[in-house]
Amino acid sequence: MLDRRSSTLLTVLLFVSASAFVEELDDSFMERKGAEDIWLIKFYAPWCTFCKQLDPVWHQIGSELRSLGSPIQVGKSDATASPGLAKEFRIRGYPAILMLKKDVTYNYLGPRTKDGIMDFADRVAGPLIRSLTSLQLFQHAMSRHDVMFVYVGATSQLKTNYTSAAETLIIGTYFFSATRDVLPKAVSLASLPAVVVFKDGTYFTYSEEHDGDLTAWINTERFPTFSQIDSYTLYAMGDSGKLVLLAMLEQKHLWDQSLRCKSLVEGVAAEHRDTYRSSFYFGFMEDSSYINGLVMDDIILPSFIIVNLSNDGYFLPLGAVETEQQLLDFMDGVLDGSVEIQGGNGVSQRIRRFVYDTKVTLMPIFTKAPLFGCFLLGVPLSIGVFLCYLCCKRRSSVDDDDDDDDDVALIATLSQRRKKSGNKKSD
Ligand SMILES: *[C@@H]1O[C@H](CO)[C@@H](O)[C@H](O)[C@H]1NC(C)=O
Ligand SMILES: *[C@@H]1O[C@H](CO)[C@@H](O)[C@H](O)[C@H]1NC(C)=O
Repeated sequence: MLDRRSSTLLTVLLFVSASAFVEELDDSFMERKGAEDIWLIKFYAPWCTFCKQLDPVWHQIGSELRSLGSPIQVGKSDATASPGLAKEFRIRGYPAILMLKKDVTYNYLGPRTKDGIMDFADRVAGPLIRSLTSLQLFQHAMSRHDVMFVYVGATSQLKTNYTSAAETLIIGTYFFSATRDVLPKAVSLASLPAVVVFKDGTYFTYSEEHDGDLTAWINTERFPTFSQIDSYTLYAMGDSGKLVLLAMLEQKHLWDQSLRCKSLVEGVAAEHRDTYRSSFYFGFMEDSSYINGLVMDDIILPSFIIVNLSNDGYFLPLGAVETEQQLLDFMDGVLDGSVEIQGGNGVSQRIRRFVYDTKVTLMPIFTKAPLFGCFLLGVPLSIGVFLCYLCCKRRSSVDDDDDDDDDVALIATLSQRRKKSGNKKSD
């Protein structure tokens, strides 16, 4: 009895102390905060289940940053109770995670895990460009990062461009600088200053002539050529206009066939990197829900798919892919147009996708509570039918083409919303 009481007390104490690490922020926050403050803030709404799932993670982050003596202050704000603050930061979906550092806002778009968020906080709160002053520091950084950008040389216009790239891309990657003598002798640079990316066990040097804009180049190069890919990464890769070749694997337990698929992609990425690097990222996925949404079906696992995230299009192999040559043929087929694109973001696809999304959302409700499901579907359906009736009536009296544009705009908004929710996983 005593034990239970003391453990309850302990829980309460722990909860109180954990809450103390996370401050509840209201509309007065902007006036109260110091100019030099660094804040990690979560915006939530009381009804949002994804926000509730994030609660324990948020408490952990708060207490961990406090015990590490970090300058980062952790807060949360109920966007329904303090709409002014949410408006200030243009919050559209929940939960929204952002960092405020010297009046600049950095939005977090990665997975909502403690490690992911802590890494983001550490990256953004620290110096924009981290100086590597010795070979040891360089090697230490290399061991910690799969992809590492390093500016080599003295102050220059290139350094100014590098700094401005870092200002926007720090949310996604670390930026370093070093002098030539710090880098290993084996690294050969044609001239200085230079921007180098170390990844895939090698390095690539930026050339304005070949690679164009530095920020765009960094945005493209910030992913390893081959890696495990989650839906957030996949979405972020879309900006580059590259295709992504994915081995879709079973979750958790990988059978022989899954392992073969994965190593086939890894092999092609390693051995044919120079040929395909400019058009492809390579990777594997163990959670197929994003791809199922894209394909609008449950895809077969394991399997291969190539996705074009710039237009929501995808490609499936025409026959079985069991050898490296068959995989290369598939990729070449996509590049030369002989493998037909499926999906995409045309109007008919958007309508199909809307129907699919509705089905996926409503299905679980129907199986769990059929009556409630009927009610849920019935009300908007009858409103819809009524609106259709009004619309037709109006159309037969006034022949007006403008309505078509409205429909397209509506579908576009829905598809936009889908993209966003694919990114944030909830809205
Ligand atoms: C820096 O960026 C500007 C455009 O933003 C470009 O015109 C210039 O050539 C770049 N300079 C270097 C050295 O990369
Ligand atoms: C991917 O989509 C973009 C945007 O629609 C398009 O320009 C590009 O050609 C597509 N790539 C392939 C290989 O289909």
